[in-house]
Amino acid sequence: MCGIVGYVGTKDAAPLIVDGLRKLEYRGYDSAGVAVHAGKGIEIVRALGKLVNLSVALEKHPLLGTTGIGHTRWATHGRPSEINAHPHASGPVAVVHNGIIENHVALRLELEGLGVRFLSDTDTEIVAHLVARELAVAPGKVSLFVAAQAALRRVVGAYAIAVVSKDEPDVIVVARSGSPLVVGLGQGETLCGSDIPALLAHTRDVVFLEDGDVAELRASGVRIETVAGEAVTRPVKHIDWSHVQAERGGYKHFMLKEIHEQPEVVEATLRGRIDLAEGDVYAGEMGVPPEVARTIQRVYFVACGTSHHAAIAGRYWVEQLAKVPAVVELASEVRYRDPIFFPTDLVVAISQSGETADTMAAVKSAKAAGARILALSNVVDSAIPRSADGALYTHAGPEIGVASTKCFTTQLAALLLLAVYLGRRRETLPKERAQAVLQALWETPALMREVLGDADYMHLIAKRIAKATDVLFLGRGLGFPIALEGALKLKEISYAHAEGYAAGEMKHGPIALIDERMPIVVVCPKDAQYDKTFSNIQEVCAREGQVIAIATRGDEQMLEVAQHIVWIPAARDEVLPLLTVLPCQLLSYFVASLKGNDVDQPRNLAKTVTVE
Ligand code: M6R
Repeated sequence: MCGIVGYVGTKDAAPLIVDGLRKLEYRGYDSAGVAVHAGKGIEIVRALGKLVNLSVALEKHPLLGTTGIGHTRWATHGRPSEINAHPHASGPVAVVHNGIIENHVALRLELEGLGVRFLSDTDTEIVAHLVARELAVAPGKVSLFVAAQAALRRVVGAYAIAVVSKDEPDVIVVARSGSPLVVGLGQGETLCGSDIPALLAHTRDVVFLEDGDVAELRASGVRIETVAGEAVTRPVKHIDWSHVQAERGGYKHFMLKEIHEQPEVVEATLRGRIDLAEGDVYAGEMGVPPEVARTIQRVYFVACGTSHHAAIAGRYWVEQLAKVPAVVELASEVRYRDPIFFPTDLVVAISQSGETADTMAAVKSAKAAGARILALSNVVDSAIPRSADGALYTHAGPEIGVASTKCFTTQLAALLLLAVYLGRRRETLPKERAQAVLQALWETPALMREVLGDADYMHLIAKRIAKATDVLFLGRGLGFPIALEGALKLKEISYAHAEGYAAGEMKHGPIALIDERMPIVVVCPKDAQYDKTFSNIQEVCAREGQVIAIATRGDEQMLEVAQHIVWIPAARDEVLPLLTVLPCQLLSYFVASLKGNDVDQPRNLAKTVTVE
């Protein structure tokens, strides 16, 4: 996720800003840049790659001044490159931005129509041009603060921005809507940052901006109004976290932080891609041209690990909504068979990192057979998207915990969008059903927040099962990939043996394992498969297994059979996996944490597996 740092005071801004950006490195980035008011105007230095490259560039071109903004970029729109690195300038202003501007296509077309020439592929550059144009309406008469407010009234989406102007050397204007931004109040200096660690070397007194706030930062302090121009006050908070705690947002582990980030990153993945009125998904965002969507004869998913579990859900959705035959293969197996790909296949390679060697090898086999490749990845321009015909990106931001959590739910969200998109192009999905599915998906982050609000209960259950050496996870339909994923999470970080099974397969073998010592997590929300899965729970009870049910709130009969029930809110069948997986992630996390395991870096595992 991008990082923003700003400084206005009496000290040399550039080194302070680079130092602040270094404190945000854990957020991940592909390029960086700084803009400083250097007396006569704003000067910008940017560099691709690590901050050390920016430091080298700054040695060659020192920026001297006491007001400035800086940025580390995690690409979303436009590949990682120096040209796309922030800050972006237009006329007297320079802007840094974290987030996604949903109406960027319309705004860009409008600005190009007015003669604006864009220098980058980013959505951010739009903000620079909008602010510059507002200032130009009455040169010298409009403040940067007012111009930024007016510009932001045109912007739809999520953003945290910081803007400086040649004409106001002692001011930084910042704003937030959906992306984090904190203001730090020092002695004769004011700072801003995407996250607390960027500020801690200077101050522990901070103001958390709220959505819709626009703030004017001067060395003497801050004033805040809403985008609409209404004055607001926000409390000053004193932070006593250590640097390490601050990096994890106060959570004990990155994994727990990432679990709790899921509503926000699913929102980011959906943002700007859904047309609710038309019950459709914007083609430009999907990586599959409409004519290809109409003519493919099969969707062939390849992936490993957690991404493979997302692929299983993807297959269900593609079959149900787009009525295209779909298969799922473990990428690590594809090359050891003689896989049969056709030029009419759409091969969807799912990889959080975009670098997994097995998935890359499967892509090569499919390409050799002339199939069309769509990469579904979280890392813009990584190896798999680069070798694909198109890319559909999740917007989870960098995932630091080795056990994948937020990347899984964003993959699910992207796959459901893909299925709706294919269904609409192929005319197998009526507008009304598409509208209902997309509406439900759009509302899912709020329901995810509700489920995550009950994390303490999962801690309690974790205490009860922490000593179990074997745990079974069962699920049916869209609950099956969640059972697999729940078991994988528990194995990865708690080192307990866990099996994920299709509930209907239980009586074909695993039922022999069940006794009073065996905890069995059953994914059993009120969906089309509910009655059948409920019968499986009764079979488990008859053998004295301890049932932990993930069930829909209000399901009275579940109270009679399950030892523990984790309630999730009622939702449409299609979006249930985004909810039912959350208790599984929390359960694994708490079991591993109770055992004192290294949750973020479990033994023997690598975040990205670049060997076959
Ligand atoms: O980066 P990828 O999605 O291609 O990674 C695939 C697997 O290595 C990954 O999902 C792995 O299973 C995770 N550790 C799961 O938590």
